[in-house]
Amino acid sequence: MAEPRKLTPAEEARLAQVREQFKQKQAISNSLNSIKYRIGVYSGKGGVGKTTVTTNLALMLAKSGKKVAILDCDIDCPNVTRVLKISNRPEADNEGKMIPPEKHGVSVMSMGFFQENEDEAIVWRGPMIHNAINQFISKTNWGDIDYLICDLPPGTSDAPLTVMQTLNLDGFIIVSTPQELAALDAKRSINMIKKLNLKVFGVVENMSGGIFGKGGASMMADELNLPVLSEISLLPEYSDNNDPAVLNNSQCEQEFSKLMSNLEEITSNL
Ligand SMILES: Nc1ncnc2c1ncn2[C@@H]1O[C@H](COP(=O)(O)OP(=O)(O)OP(=O)(O)O)[C@@H](O)[C@H]1O
Ligand SMILES: [Mg+2]
Repeated sequence: MAEPRKLTPAEEARLAQVREQFKQKQAISNSLNSIKYRIGVYSGKGGVGKTTVTTNLALMLAKSGKKVAILDCDIDCPNVTRVLKISNRPEADNEGKMIPPEKHGVSVMSMGFFQENEDEAIVWRGPMIHNAINQFISKTNWGDIDYLICDLPPGTSDAPLTVMQTLNLDGFIIVSTPQELAALDAKRSINMIKKLNLKVFGVVENMSGGIFGKGGASMMADELNLPVLSEISLLPEYSDNNDPAVLNNSQCEQEFSKLMSNLEEITSNL
């Protein structure tokens, strides 16, 4: 039998790269094994309430007895730690994996932990984002988790796309405000998710009522045949200067309770 041909240096390098990618993928899937459902919270437009929805939904789930973690995937502008007022950083376990700090019963992993200074902007390019997210996932000791809620960066650029592809999410909650333009941006983001062959669970209309009006996001959801998972009112209680709204206000609790039960029903049918 003929000797196998010796690989060229370029082929050797390519092989090493494929092996490394395989190892990384395996580390991620091992780490995600202890998580039942992975949910993305996303919008095309910035500032519409992704972080507000992520934190209040996570707190609501924890309050009802679920094991919950938040992954702050907004690596340019991580602010879950600020909103939840978490000052302690992750600790290492025996194997050198990070144990996420907990607040109100929710485990939180965020790029914010690795920022020296809160005002510092983190500018990352595609491959760096990919690496950072890989590290987050594979080097974290999540423990047994029912729901991992991922606060995604806004827009349709490199950052959210990379995160979506790396995390292998079960589905997305789209956040939009009632105005027509925000709903248009939401439509764009829904189409992007569909193009990636991922699931959209439904739409949350945030800042509903008051000066922004009501119903724009719901109309868009109807048009796209998606359910409205909840309408979250524009209320001072939701402002991030205050303590988490669902822990302090019964109307907020009701609005997020609706989102939670809709999500639980959807995930139970996955
Ligand atoms: N329903 C609401 N009522 C009142 N204030 C709200 C509501 N939802 C969000 N806010 C406030 O609006 C601001 C933007 O919300 P948030 O940070 O959740 O948006 P975001 O989509 O995560 O933004 P970014 O795209 O910058 O990450 C925050 O100051 C928040 O406290
Ligand atoms: Mg945010």
